[in-house]
Amino acid sequence: MTRRLAANSAGITEAVHLLRSGRLVAFPTETVYGLGADATDSAATARIYAAKGRPAFNPLIAHVPDVAAAEREGLFDARARALATAFWPGPLTLVVPARSDGTVCELARAGLASVGLRVPSDPVAQALLRATGRPVAAPSANRSGHVSPTTAAHVLADLEGAVDAVLEGDACAVGLESTIVGCIDGRAVLLRPGSITRAALADVLGEAVASPAADDHAAPQSPGRLLAHYAPATPMRWLGADTVPHGAAVLTYGSAPIPGLEHASVVHNLSANGNLVEAAAKLYSSLRQLDAAGADVILVSEIPKSGLGEAIIDRLTRAIGASSLI
Ligand code: TXA
Ligand code: MG
Repeated sequence: MTRRLAANSAGITEAVHLLRSGRLVAFPTETVYGLGADATDSAATARIYAAKGRPAFNPLIAHVPDVAAAEREGLFDARARALATAFWPGPLTLVVPARSDGTVCELARAGLASVGLRVPSDPVAQALLRATGRPVAAPSANRSGHVSPTTAAHVLADLEGAVDAVLEGDACAVGLESTIVGCIDGRAVLLRPGSITRAALADVLGEAVASPAADDHAAPQSPGRLLAHYAPATPMRWLGADTVPHGAAVLTYGSAPIPGLEHASVVHNLSANGNLVEAAAKLYSSLRQLDAAGADVILVSEIPKSGLGEAIIDRLTRAIGASSLI
């Protein structure tokens, strides 16, 4: 059941309580409704991907109430600061290098070294973010492949039952997703056009914004193209039907017996009782810990393809592909 919350102080208080307990709350912004979760909580973030039915872990935008909160999560160069000053609060997302002491979880960043940040102007969103006191990860509140919702009714049509609550604010004033600009490596790159135009951006920057080149791995465009995606230094491969060799690091899922598992130097189980949401939440931290274990190889046992399994397999396949490049 999805609860309908009025966009008043009682509704916002309840929404804050839900967000801080790891639940999903859809909320209005001036662009489109967002499907929000505590961005510092990887289990909560995993629920976003499950609810949307996303086939892959796209990086999510972390919503914060002001520039100061944004600067606690990302590193702002002069261009990013100028754009933030000119357009925040408002329909602009800045992709900047993530700070090492930032709180947005790796799953929300899809393992990238960058973080997408936005300060929405909608008063309901502002009140919610201020009271939550944590960055809120929110993609558009539609099922993957559907159009973005600009009313609470649209959200319910797509996500009734899949989201814990919806804050029923007004229809979105802009109705088009935010303009996304990447400010990394001393350039400003237009990653997604939106209501803040190229001309308006150029006006503030005093120079044209670049377009991402198809072969430009430094430009944070489609996450699948990024070499900056988390790639373990330890070679990785699927275990398949093999027996685990002595000293291997092993990533498992569920409780099916694995031949030779007793030979492993270290084993991480993404979810012993076969819960894909738990597995998604643990994925990045498990990979990091296995990588740090100093084994010759990380072997990955089978993961079901259903539901979130598809996104988990997508990420593992990329990590395996990237690890073989080293
Ligand atoms: O207006 C909006 O931006 C809405 C509202 C809810 O804020 N949100 C939205 O989110 O449109 P979503 O998930 O539908 O689109 C977010 C886009 C994706 O294309 C994603 O790849 C990009 O932002 N993005 C986020 N963080 C990124 C990063 N670190 N690097 C590259 N792209 C990033
Ligand atoms: Mg979307």
